[in-house]
Amino acid sequence: MTEQDREKWNLKYLKNRKNSDPSEILEKYIFLASRGNALDLACGNGRNSRFLAQKGFQVDAVDISNIAINNLAGQDPRINAICQDIDTWQIPQDRYQIIINIRFMDRRLFPMIQKGLKPGGILIFESFIDKKKEYCLTPNELLKAFESFHVVYYEEKKVEHSDKFDQSVYFVAIKKV
Ligand SMILES: C[S@@+](CC[C@H](N)C(=O)[O-])C[C@H]1O[C@@H](n2cnc3c(N)ncnc32)[C@H](O)[C@@H]1O
Repeated sequence: MTEQDREKWNLKYLKNRKNSDPSEILEKYIFLASRGNALDLACGNGRNSRFLAQKGFQVDAVDISNIAINNLAGQDPRINAICQDIDTWQIPQDRYQIIINIRFMDRRLFPMIQKGLKPGGILIFESFIDKKKEYCLTPNELLKAFESFHVVYYEEKKVEHSDKFDQSVYFVAIKKV
């Protein structure tokens, strides 16, 4: 992540402070997670962190954008808003009942996500697939990366985002006990 990337996201969050709805896959599968600690990777404006907090989780919400994190900090005492470059951040081990990775992708995190979840913990992933782009997933990649997990839901499908269609992937899995 470069300083330019941070500026790009800061500009976006300066222009758009509205509180959008949580991710549908999170809303649908949150019931699987026992209450406790949650990690929202690349939380952005915190739409999913707020949802998790309202459901009773203690949320670590991490993002590189200081604008997004400053907006989020103080909104809910159950949210710990952390301004960090995830490229160099370490996920604490054996800490989380749920980790969500929504519209973000960093393969370096995969082993840390596995260790960061408690046994029985839930992983919810929503991201993009494009074989030609290094920062996107490839088809079935998550199934291989988390093959030791029990897969609850997996789907790859075309979804409209900002007037164009992207191949999206949705993945819900449980770390085996
Ligand atoms: C498409 S937004 C998704 C935000 C949020 N997960 C959601 O679904 O609303 C991607 C987010 O990734 C964050 N991001 C990008 N690179 C990052 C990095 N290296 N470390 C932490 N956050 C990063 C951006 O600041 C941005 O908020």
